[in-house]
Amino acid sequence: MNILQTLARERILPVLVIDHAADAVPLARALLAGRLTSAEITLRTADALESIRRVVAEVPEIKVGAGTVLSAEQAKAAVDAGAQFLVSPGFNASVVQTAQAMGTPIFPGCVTPTEVEAALAQGCSSLKFFPAEPAGGVPYLQALAAPHADVRFIPTGGISAANFGAYLALPNVLAVGGSWMATREMIAAQNWETITKHCVAAARFSGIL
Ligand code: 3PG
Repeated sequence: MNILQTLARERILPVLVIDHAADAVPLARALLAGRLTSAEITLRTADALESIRRVVAEVPEIKVGAGTVLSAEQAKAAVDAGAQFLVSPGFNASVVQTAQAMGTPIFPGCVTPTEVEAALAQGCSSLKFFPAEPAGGVPYLQALAAPHADVRFIPTGGISAANFGAYLALPNVLAVGGSWMATREMIAAQNWETITKHCVAAARFSGIL
């Protein structure tokens, strides 16, 4: 299964901020115990690349992506570390072109129709919709579906256990992304059981459990 097929099946993409690489493997195992098999590790911490390396080496069942990719250099470093897909908060043509040249799937963040069209022109049709809730949430995404019916979105930003179902009900939503099932605080506290419980709840909702 490639990352698009995994997201289409599981419909949940955990977004992770890992402060200590030592937490990466137990965290990945906690996601897996909750039946989720993809993860976006954000490049927001000093330990992010090492976390990606460790999960790739030790928990191969998880498809690991790098998030918060802001430059071509970061895109290359993430793929060197083993990232199997890339996510960026905005549409950055140089990041997208670098990912495409490496043959690595990239989900650039888009909100406006102008950004969506720029991404389409660059060959991307699976896009992050960020920041989902502040940008207008479900009604906004519904409106975007009218002119851009072929685009699939991964809404992220402000998604929670309370609202992810409303996004998943939209036909133009591939999957939702978010940190609610494994927050930075839960990770720092090594609260693996809670994380697994949240993943199981999400997996039940999306019908894979
Ligand atoms: C991201 O990087 O995609 C977001 O910060 C995740 O948003 P959330 O923490 O509101 O889920």
